[in-house]
Amino acid sequence: MSEKKDPKDTTVLVTGGAGFIGSHTVVALLEDGYKVVIVDDLSNASEKVVGRIGQIVGDEAASRLAFRKADVNDRAALDAIFDEFAIDRVIHFAGFKAVGESVQKPVEYYSNNLGNTLTLVDVMRNHGCKSIVFSSSATVYGDPDALPLTEKSPKKPATNPYGWTKWMIEQILTDLTVADPEWNVVLLRYFNPIGAHPSGLMGEDPKGIPNNLLPYVAQVAVGKRECVHVFGDDYDTPDGTGVRDYIHVMDLASGHAAALAWMNGREGVEVFNLGTGKGTSVLEIIKAFSAACGRDLPYQVDPRRAGDVTANYADCSKAKAEMGWEAKYDIADMCRDSWNWQSNNPNGYED
Ligand code: WQD
Repeated sequence: MSEKKDPKDTTVLVTGGAGFIGSHTVVALLEDGYKVVIVDDLSNASEKVVGRIGQIVGDEAASRLAFRKADVNDRAALDAIFDEFAIDRVIHFAGFKAVGESVQKPVEYYSNNLGNTLTLVDVMRNHGCKSIVFSSSATVYGDPDALPLTEKSPKKPATNPYGWTKWMIEQILTDLTVADPEWNVVLLRYFNPIGAHPSGLMGEDPKGIPNNLLPYVAQVAVGKRECVHVFGDDYDTPDGTGVRDYIHVMDLASGHAAALAWMNGREGVEVFNLGTGKGTSVLEIIKAFSAACGRDLPYQVDPRRAGDVTANYADCSKAKAEMGWEAKYDIADMCRDSWNWQSNNPNGYED
């Protein structure tokens, strides 16, 4: 059972809080009055994000933010953080997340993503903290039999180790609530997070060649890449290219704040889809981003990418009914904010 508390009296530990979704969520929590501790090993993030968060939220809110560089799988370091701060809630983002890389490095993905979760929940319960929001993914639905996807849609076998880690961590956290009903777990299944903070101070900053569509398109727009590679145009969709439910990272952040408020004083496990309920194709994304950056972006059609599904998009009526949350931004907003970030930070957080 999570003790019912006001945000101003609640400290939230955000693992992976210097990452793309984590950092935008930290801004939302600080703006809601929470105290926040970011733990991040910076393996896929920049410490500069902490300063950018401070710039966005202002001095008073920034005074409620702490950053500790640590690997969540480092038990001693995690224990020390729980000793230093009276953690009431945890939002767990930390984990490797590249689908293709996970196929090449299954051992690293399972030991990091599962290992850090098992260490985290053990340290949490040793410190009397049993409330966690987990960053899950629509990937647990696999190749859908029917659309839109609701929380009751069947979980399917994953098509890659990254997807399996999301699948398995959901199971670990669910089993925890059966073994100890005091646990309070929310599983948030994201669809495709894109966009950036409207200030242009924070955004997606993948290392190396982007695996995902939006950062790749943004790098073409800013001149870092030649042209967009469209992975197949022979899918059973209106224009033949893959369809996904893209959701603005700001909507995703507010979804986490809504989940914290919803779980306050509750116990047990609950699943919510976080998407927009609308499907958008690859070619539609390229068109929307071309409009946002003011020029037609070049693309070529390549063969399909192994493991891709034809289409997925969400039914988010449960999040609206239960948490009063729904996505507010549309594709044009997502492309506008992503372009603003990329054009102002062509090399991301690097100088
Ligand atoms: C979207 C569409 C591609 C790149 C994955 C994970 C999900 C989440 C987001 C991590 C597809 C096409 C892509 C490119 C393309 N995980 N595409 N050219 O695969 O839907 O979701 O990433 O954050 O859990 O499953 O996202 O952006 O890779 O692909 O044509 O260069 O764009 O075929 O149709 P995906 P994506």
